[in-house]
Amino acid sequence: MTTTRRSLCLSAGVAAASPLASAADPPFTSIFEVFARRQSVRRYKPDNVPDEHIRQIINAARMPPTTMNQQPWKFLVVRDREKIGRMRARTFEIIEKRVEEAKAKNPPPDLEARFKAAREMTDGYFTAPVYVVVLVDKQCPYPDYALKNDGPLAAGYLMLAARALGYGTVYLTDGIPESVSREVLAIPDRYHRVCMTPIGIPDLWPEPKPKKDLKELIAYETL
Ligand SMILES: Cc1cc2nc3c(=O)[nH]c(=O)nc-3n(C[C@H](O)[C@H](O)[C@H](O)COP(=O)(O)O)c2cc1C
Repeated sequence: MTTTRRSLCLSAGVAAASPLASAADPPFTSIFEVFARRQSVRRYKPDNVPDEHIRQIINAARMPPTTMNQQPWKFLVVRDREKIGRMRARTFEIIEKRVEEAKAKNPPPDLEARFKAAREMTDGYFTAPVYVVVLVDKQCPYPDYALKNDGPLAAGYLMLAARALGYGTVYLTDGIPESVSREVLAIPDRYHRVCMTPIGIPDLWPEPKPKKDLKELIAYETL
């Protein structure tokens, strides 16, 4: 056990520090820092994320408020490189099809640059050691609420828990199309995919995205 506390423990009984947390990742002193320092990460180091960390992260993801306590979630954990490779190949096929379609229309002058950036970003999505697909069961009592509310809340908790342990995530929707994950991972129709996220040590922690000033967002009593 290192003496430096690199991650904030969200529950008792968990090692105080993640030995895998990036050395460049300064320790958290408050849960509010975890919120402030969660960022979307789009390229990862290959270092393993142990199963106990994944369980701890998913344990936190099942704690948000949920419509009439229905808890409609399923968290599909994927480590199999063969499946990840197939998702990558299918995602790239879709991108290349879009390039061809865009070229055939009236392409903007920066089309190539845009797709170069998209390919680079997409390549990075597939560098993580592990992925979690956040699903909700359409056969739950309130499926619309599951989709709009319960599912995204679980995804948010999951990302914050991962961050607390020193890992990066990114809420992927179109980045890895739902059709691709459904096909490769054989996700049954009864589950709706909310998002999927890689989990891993970032290749680099990105520059934080600019956030609106609190003054712009807050209103008291009336708008
Ligand atoms: C509903 C939703 C869908 C998103 N889909 C994608 C995606 O497909 N690919 C991606 O790279 N990021 C995706 N993101 C991440 C956002 O781009 C990111 O959160 C935003 O730019 C703010 O950056 P930050 O997360 O680093 O603060 C998505 C986020 C949300 C909430």
